[in-house]
Amino acid sequence: MPHVHGKRMTFAPEKPFNDLPDLPPDSTFSESREIIQLTIEARTALAELKGTCRTLPNPDILLETISLQESKDSSEIENIVTTQDELFQADALSGISSSWEGSGPAKEVLRYRLSMKMGMDKMNANGLITTNLLVSIQQQLRNTEAGIRQQMGTVISNPESGTIIYTPPSGEALIRKKLAALEVFIHENKELDPVICLALIHYQFEAIHPFYDGNGRTGRILNVLYLIQRGLLEHPVLYLSRYILLHRSEYYTRLRAVTERGDWAGWVSFILTGVRETSKWTLASIIQLNKAIDEAADLSRTRMKSGYSRELIDLIFKHPYCKIGHLVDAGIAGRVTASRYLNQLEKLGILTSIQIHRDKYFINTAIMRSLDVLLPDKRD
Ligand SMILES: Nc1ncnc2c1ncn2[C@@H]1O[C@H](COP(=O)(O)OP(=O)(O)OP(=O)(O)O)[C@@H](O)[C@H]1O
Ligand SMILES: [Mg+2]
Repeated sequence: MPHVHGKRMTFAPEKPFNDLPDLPPDSTFSESREIIQLTIEARTALAELKGTCRTLPNPDILLETISLQESKDSSEIENIVTTQDELFQADALSGISSSWEGSGPAKEVLRYRLSMKMGMDKMNANGLITTNLLVSIQQQLRNTEAGIRQQMGTVISNPESGTIIYTPPSGEALIRKKLAALEVFIHENKELDPVICLALIHYQFEAIHPFYDGNGRTGRILNVLYLIQRGLLEHPVLYLSRYILLHRSEYYTRLRAVTERGDWAGWVSFILTGVRETSKWTLASIIQLNKAIDEAADLSRTRMKSGYSRELIDLIFKHPYCKIGHLVDAGIAGRVTASRYLNQLEKLGILTSIQIHRDKYFINTAIMRSLDVLLPDKRD
């Protein structure tokens, strides 16, 4: 049983955990050899990722693709399953008509991405991560006005047996108080390494569990915002969701172990390993995507009869489902010429065209191949 300032905490799974202590924990885990080593490894991998992002000629292209991938993985933890292709398609179609209603899962994933973008914009406006910011992210994500939990009844239970595993603190005032303390920790703690803080903050946010639903996804968006806020990244590229998805059962067990036994060391090592591994995958996919862009550029420069330009190649990587209108809007060519360019790229095997409703789309299959090759499959 963990102690807080000598006081015995009262944790029982079916009782609201109103005694949840504020951060930082009263523990010396951060001095252990293993944690120090993992902190160095995670920081090094992150720094390499940050450095590589700085050298990218056009980070926007990669950001779009990577953030869509993250939205897909994070939503999948909640069992909202889509294929990459469905998503690219839904994304392309949602852009042309605001009244377009995609299939349920794809819509949810796009909503996740929208919430993440909104969170980024709001945070960039004043550099702050606040309770209000988290509330608006969750509202956008779940398409609800509900806000902070006001009624009892939110519990985390085992999906198979129905046994209650955890009951978060209850009462809006108490939840707000704990969030306010978390906010202070987010902005003021400079003693612990930021990657360790990330792990602590993620546990704390999930344990407070301020909303009726969407706490996991909002918490995963918070992770990214925090890394940027602390300057460990400049672009939102590192997403822990795939790692969590791959190690889902360990993730849940480790969260519980903090609450039940104060096992911070286990939790922090889990998250630090996640940061290290995720940085490596992300770096590898960025390099792979860049290579695909260069290869497409080389091929079209030498083989296209006319119309090759780097802008054209960048554009087809920015829009995995590209259509004539995209070229026209970007000022690359008029409709007739644009259509000729895209057809030439299809003949070279760079694009594959399909008809969706009234529009012809040119799919950039190299993007999907790059992502598929690199990202590990599900486990757990
Ligand atoms: N024992 C636990 N203690 C604290 N938090 C937990 C525990 N078990 C799970 N969680 C958190 O609760 C989240 C699920 O909460 P909720 O259903 O509100 O979020 P979601 O975004 O809808 O779901 P998901 O995270 O599955 O996509 C998990 O992602 C995890 O972070
Ligand atoms: Mg849920």
